[in-house]
Amino acid sequence: MGFLEWATSPWGQRVPIHIAWFLIWVAAIAGLLFLMVHATYVRYFVKHKEFAGNVSPLIAARIPAHVPRHSLTARLFHWIMAAAMFTLLFTAFLPKVGVQFDWVTYHWIAGSVLTVSILFHIIHASFFMDFWSIWPDRIDMRDARRRILRFVGKAAPPPDRFAKYPLENKLYHGAIIAAGLSSIVTGVFMMFRVRTIFFPRNPYLFSDMTWGMMYVLHGLAGVGLIALIMMHVYFGLRPEKRAITKSMIFGWMSRDFYLKEHDPARWPVEASSSSSPTRSQGAEPEGLTDAG
Ligand code: HEM
Repeated sequence: MGFLEWATSPWGQRVPIHIAWFLIWVAAIAGLLFLMVHATYVRYFVKHKEFAGNVSPLIAARIPAHVPRHSLTARLFHWIMAAAMFTLLFTAFLPKVGVQFDWVTYHWIAGSVLTVSILFHIIHASFFMDFWSIWPDRIDMRDARRRILRFVGKAAPPPDRFAKYPLENKLYHGAIIAAGLSSIVTGVFMMFRVRTIFFPRNPYLFSDMTWGMMYVLHGLAGVGLIALIMMHVYFGLRPEKRAITKSMIFGWMSRDFYLKEHDPARWPVEASSSSSPTRSQGAEPEGLTDAG
């Protein structure tokens, strides 16, 4: 039982043609196992989250009741991308598990929507949003170490509250970039193999071997996305993450949730009254939280 399916080209060369489709079930079962282990761990073993220090009452009083988290543009992008992603997953994998329909046209249309929305997101995030907020920083790495030490029962100070995104979300975003970009780049080339409205069909663009590798990478990224999207939806539905999910619908999270999990020094928001922000970008962060 191999992980790839092979064929013989007209020139007698053995070439991969795509992944073996049982990998769909491997990914779905891996995703399901992750959810079950995580849910059991949270239900029976997880301790109360502890963070270093307390937000000073002076700062807390200046946080608005609704803390803005996602702009309308960012939310629209998220839901368009989600619709495209689900369409891609269902159109790609349902026919492989026995639900036959004419899937290719729906698939490349959804693929084109995803490609355009990701191009838009890259420009939007690079020039109009806080680009660095989604990449791990030094405090994340230090706190990851502290959290691991505390998890295994060793002495370590509690971690700081999170910036806009916890480390787990940042790592997840990295995995989605890897799988998403792999499926997009290969998918755009694969559109040369089928009839679309964008360019004339040209199956001779690459050698059989290169096409084969491209289909394999597309398939691997695709099955990887099955597990990744399952995890994403699971976390979005978990009760303790509901405030974050709601913010992707309404655009804001409550002051209580913000103060419980986030550090105003690492993720500054506009103050509710007057025009003074809790901290302007790049200004001195000290004094916003009481050490302790
Ligand atoms: C969630 C993301 C995606 C998943 C899960 C996915 C999955 C798949 C799978 C499993 C196949 C069958 C490949 C094979 O037979 O080996 C396929 C084919 C295809 N995909 Fe995707 N894909 C995704 C994204 C995209 C994107 C973004 C595009 C275009 C930009 C795209 C364009 C295509 C095309 C044109 C084919 C048909 C190739 C053919 O029949 O020769 N896909 N996709």
